Amino acid sequence: MHIVFVAPECAPRVKTGGLGEVLGALPAAIAGLGHRVTVYVPLYRSLRLDMEEQGAAPVVLESLTLPGPGSNRFARVLDGGTDRDVQFYLVDCPELFDREGVYGPPGENYLDNAVRFGLYCRAVLEAVKQLGVPDVLHLHDWQAAFAAIYLATSYAADPMLGRVATVYTIHNGGYQGLFPPEQLTDLLLPLSLFSSGVLRADKQVNPFAGAVRSSDLVTTVSPGYAEELKTPEFGEGLEEVYCQRGRDFVGILNGIDEEEWDPATDPHLAAHYSIEDLTGKRECRADLLRAFGADEVADSTAVIGMVSRLAGQKGFDLIAEAMPKLAEMNLVLLIVGRGEPAVEAQFRDLADKYPDRLRVSPDFSEELAHKMQAGADMTLMPSRYEPSGLTQMYSLRYGTVPVVRATGGLRDTVQEWEEGNGFVFEEYTSGALLAAVGRALKEFADRERWRARVQRGMAVRRGWDGPAREYDAEYRRAVEAHAARTN
Ligand code: GLC
Repeated sequence: MHIVFVAPECAPRVKTGGLGEVLGALPAAIAGLGHRVTVYVPLYRSLRLDMEEQGAAPVVLESLTLPGPGSNRFARVLDGGTDRDVQFYLVDCPELFDREGVYGPPGENYLDNAVRFGLYCRAVLEAVKQLGVPDVLHLHDWQAAFAAIYLATSYAADPMLGRVATVYTIHNGGYQGLFPPEQLTDLLLPLSLFSSGVLRADKQVNPFAGAVRSSDLVTTVSPGYAEELKTPEFGEGLEEVYCQRGRDFVGILNGIDEEEWDPATDPHLAAHYSIEDLTGKRECRADLLRAFGADEVADSTAVIGMVSRLAGQKGFDLIAEAMPKLAEMNLVLLIVGRGEPAVEAQFRDLADKYPDRLRVSPDFSEELAHKMQAGADMTLMPSRYEPSGLTQMYSLRYGTVPVVRATGGLRDTVQEWEEGNGFVFEEYTSGALLAAVGRALKEFADRERWRARVQRGMAVRRGWDGPAREYDAEYRRAVEAHAARTN
């Protein structure tokens, strides 16, 4: 089969979070199963500058017309090269993408993001007609939702695209890409889509809801989150829509790139180690503290790490509330990441207040993320919700014990029981968080039991082979469903 991926991010080319990491690994795993795989990404400014450094990228399509209400827009498609049997194409539309950032300048969103990503999807649909019509379009998050909507409307009768099946993957159901109905005209979508309710969420247009309704199959990134989305607590207003999809809505747990994330070979680390010989981890810990400009700490003090977007979803309100009590415990908390300006400011203040207990770095880098996984004793993830979470899986592989809230993919990957691999709390309260950290510290003081827990986490393989096979089965099911529906 030929699978085309449509997504706003794809590591290492462009990445703001887990979605980008998944897109950096899943396509190659699908190609590894013998499929033809193509990935389209917008040519953001940062990507254009990177490409220019490497020399000019060949133009494969000179001019795609994207009809507009007033004047037409034009896009080009550049060849982004191949990597592990995956072909990359870059959609070049400077008016929409030659700007700062991916979704906006730091901490902001562009007001025309719906138009930007809608027209990107439209450009992809036009491009595949010339570069290869796939069997399956695999769409990721709200930015790619427009492809499913166009296929179900404007392109439904298109002789070439009419037979394309769609799989829509939700990486985060909390971001639905809402926009005002006036922008539908820019996207050349009929206002009737809004008035009939297909794309509606109150007074706004909801492209995400449209894709959940109109794709042949819908998946999300863990079985746990799939169940949660069907409830009012997590469904963000779409719980019934998920329920209505029945067996056509499934959870497939993400994998991790086990080559990139391997403490035995990781080039970012000060020392290497493995499940058989953990000695190098100690040096990684000292190296991590140095990277944060922190003093050495006693062996009995736990170093707890967080690599996270500083967003409400991630449970920073709980940490802020718990901080006075955490500061009395035998631990150092290191946080790296950027995010919502209010959360960043709050944590800068907290770090000033508790200099011996809390360090926060806004300077995210791949290197620091790897050092964190290797050097910390524990990883903290008190997420309000977590579709899959990759950090806890990297931690498990690096012998860093996750302390997590039981939600979504965290619940699916971390267990606390006697023979478990981490520590888990249920209730979204600072009290429950503190209790879990307390249990973890208690076991940390018992070297033998701690090592056993570390090793149980390291022993499990979490690569992409398994998930890729699950997606493969869903692609086949989507093709059948689509054929049955359109014949
Ligand atoms: C989003 C989710 C995260 C998931 C990632 C990749 O960032 O918040 O839980 O791991 O997408 O699917």
